[in-house]
Amino acid sequence: MSRFTVRRTLLAVLAATAACASLPAFASKEKPVIGFSIDDLRVERWARDRDFFIEAAKGLGAEVSVQSADGDSAKQVAQIENLISKKVDALVIVPKDGPTLINVLKEAKKAGIKIISYDRLIKSPDVDIYISFDNERVGFMQGESLMKALPKGNVYVLSGDPGDNNAKLFKAGAMKAMEPSIKKGDIKILGEQAVVDWLPANALKIAENVLTQFNNKIDGFLAPNDGTAGGVIQALAGQKLAGKVPVTGQDADLAACKRVLAGTQTMTIYKSLKLIATESAKVSVALVKGEKLNYKTVKVDNVESILLDPIALTKANMDILVKDNFYTKEQLGM
Ligand code: BGC
Repeated sequence: MSRFTVRRTLLAVLAATAACASLPAFASKEKPVIGFSIDDLRVERWARDRDFFIEAAKGLGAEVSVQSADGDSAKQVAQIENLISKKVDALVIVPKDGPTLINVLKEAKKAGIKIISYDRLIKSPDVDIYISFDNERVGFMQGESLMKALPKGNVYVLSGDPGDNNAKLFKAGAMKAMEPSIKKGDIKILGEQAVVDWLPANALKIAENVLTQFNNKIDGFLAPNDGTAGGVIQALAGQKLAGKVPVTGQDADLAACKRVLAGTQTMTIYKSLKLIATESAKVSVALVKGEKLNYKTVKVDNVESILLDPIALTKANMDILVKDNFYTKEQLGM
């Protein structure tokens, strides 16, 4: 080989290395490469899911490439196509809108990639496993807390983004918990609206409008998560009603936990993000290596599923978050 050829080869190798800086060109089973495709990193919890997942995957010798679709389903399809072309071994996906991913998942399956549906279900036969929390139970806990806090009056129901399968489950669970009070006539549902893209600004707008529409005669809001609860509470504050009207939530976002402690939000729900992220990393690596999974699974819409337990949080048991190292006492101001 002439000196010139050696130099040219070296340059080619360097160029290839630079192009694939974030992903090795050949993923090996000993060092699996996982593509983590997340709907929207603007929501506080997903950034923590990402961090816990990367930490756990690294500990298992795997490498992770993270993509955020910023709430755009077409962007998510393109990002997944890109991960497939980079020959990842597994795809872990928080779908923006499950049905829009059916075709790209077919491609992934054909390429031999393992597919993990993370937190939100993608109803596809190509999904190897779905790992989440018992989401109907999450909704039930929200409805139950609201009934306990009221227990009579007019309730306005907000639900999550219509493209998110969890949004349906949260609402179904909450309605189940409220049903006896509705039947008795203690609770009247004034109306319901979905919060598109789960955006707090959209929840704020809805809450402002319905407070005007009902002359502030709303006794409780079912808010599907902490971000949307924040929007509702901002609207209530505008009417000097924050703290007087019960509002639910979920995710144990820091701002929401502080509101629960301050009394402007009734409850939140703690879903251990470290647990779901760590278990998902373990499952991904095991699937890639062809190892047997040692989990109790259930079928959800024909997809093999692992469902973890959520915990309802109020002022009374907020210290769970400190014990579980989710926040420090100082962060919570306790
Ligand atoms: C998740 C919630 C989250 C919401 C908005 C849902 O699918 O389960 O934890 O707050 O999406 O991102």
